[in-house]
Amino acid sequence: MPQFARRILCIGAGHVGGPTMSVIAARCPQYEVTVVDVNPERVRAWQSDDLPIYEPGLLEVVREARGRNLFFGTDVAAAIDRADVIFVSVNTPTKTFGEGAGKAPDLQYWEKTARTIVDASRANKIVVEKSTLPVRTAHAMERILNSNRKGIHFEVLSNPEFLAEGTAVRDLEAPDRVLVGSHETPEGAAARDVVVEIYANWVPRDRIITSNVWSAELSKLAANAFLAQRISSINSISALCEKTTADVAEVSRAIGMDERIGPRFLHSSVGFGGSCFKKDILNLVYICENYGLEEVARYWESVIRINEYQKRRFVQTMTHAMFDTVADKRIALFGFAFKKDTADTRESPAIAVARKLIEERAVVVVTDPKALANARADLADVPADRIVFEEDPYVAARGAHAIAILTEWDAYRTLDYRAIFDSMERPTFVFDGRNLLDAKALHAIGFNVFPIGKAALKHF
Ligand code: NAD
Ligand code: UGA
Repeated sequence: MPQFARRILCIGAGHVGGPTMSVIAARCPQYEVTVVDVNPERVRAWQSDDLPIYEPGLLEVVREARGRNLFFGTDVAAAIDRADVIFVSVNTPTKTFGEGAGKAPDLQYWEKTARTIVDASRANKIVVEKSTLPVRTAHAMERILNSNRKGIHFEVLSNPEFLAEGTAVRDLEAPDRVLVGSHETPEGAAARDVVVEIYANWVPRDRIITSNVWSAELSKLAANAFLAQRISSINSISALCEKTTADVAEVSRAIGMDERIGPRFLHSSVGFGGSCFKKDILNLVYICENYGLEEVARYWESVIRINEYQKRRFVQTMTHAMFDTVADKRIALFGFAFKKDTADTRESPAIAVARKLIEERAVVVVTDPKALANARADLADVPADRIVFEEDPYVAARGAHAIAILTEWDAYRTLDYRAIFDSMERPTFVFDGRNLLDAKALHAIGFNVFPIGKAALKHF
């Protein structure tokens, strides 16, 4: 058995825990890194080459470290006992029941983890919040952990994760910044130095920033809220573009070249999805309401309202363009993942679009290179005569009246749209929810093209 300089544990082997710990293990062979989860299937998948999540470049990173200093398991208690530093990366979804349902985060997994840590520990430990949590959660965590009767001290830090799905490995290997929040006490500072030292193995020192615990917790919510707000801002402008024949891509470019604004996250779309933006903004709204900050709560809530509006508007445009009825029309949805390069469909705008079209009695054909299994689960309740899942986009489009581009997969840029057009019903429509395709070229083939935030190109 090699002697490791430190034993690091992560509880929760999901989209964050798995990739984060794999990169730490790959970059720091001197540490033993263990990732545990209550879901044995997930753990088995991490132990195989058929990883439970799809991320470009992840398998290579896992293979480099797995079995050397990276281990996946289900024995949570034993792993806790062994570890010096415990990252907690369990899910914190929006509550679906009781007080705060639909807004507050559901902290049950978090709380249970804290209790498991107390029960299984026999020595002092550093506990690091990696999950996204309401500001001041560390306080509750500390109460649970430090109420133990064994005389053990747990130092709680906040180290929120800023990776985005689809680019997780790149984001972890070269982060814009790493944030470590700690208490301003000698124990807090010592624990902070341990976590900073882990990242300093590959992240430049000036990109590792420290703060107090509450600032770190709140920075994570604020960062997601600001990113989502940019998308809702440009999406609100896209609606105005469609009315005025301004072009949202031209507007994005013009405003994004202002260095004070910057070009990223100004890409107008059918709406943002993903497991975090909506959940984290709802979380922020709930906290503000609890502190009596009604105006602040309403401000952030409007980011979600515009996002819902954008998804609704997209389907309204489709229905209206197709002569105010889509009943019994076959409509091919190109892409179901919430963004390219992931199989994740959590809160994907495609779910809302599919459901609204089905409500209008359309027959929906879903195609996606990675996310079909998740799409099937998301739409499991839809009657079988209203939904088809098809891997091949050419087959999906055959006999359809319309294609809706819902995920910006690179592969969709280079399909043979003339062959696709020839196989479809007339008149033939493309609704490009990602402004992915060359609208003029499609129009020249014969499609009626409806991009987001740009004038439609029609043949009637
Ligand atoms: P996930 O659902 O993919 O993974 C969470 C894992 O935790 C699951 O595998 C679950 O089985 C496990 N788990 C739950 N309770 C457990 C327990 N008591 N003991 C052991 N394992 C347990 O979630 P995720 O996407 O990885 O997100 C985790 C946290 O990170 C969330 O708070 C999220 O907001 C935050 N976050 C996510 C992303 C992202 O891109 N997905 C990015 C940054 C931050
Ligand atoms: C987002 C943040 O970017 C991460 O920093 C954060 O760590 C993460 O949430 C989290 O906390 O979970 P993620 O949701 O994985 O990451 O992906 P993004 O690239 O942010 O995209 C989110 C959604 O916004 C996608 O549906 C995407 O298509 C959409 N989007 C993004 C747009 O519609 N327009 C844009 O210009 C950018």
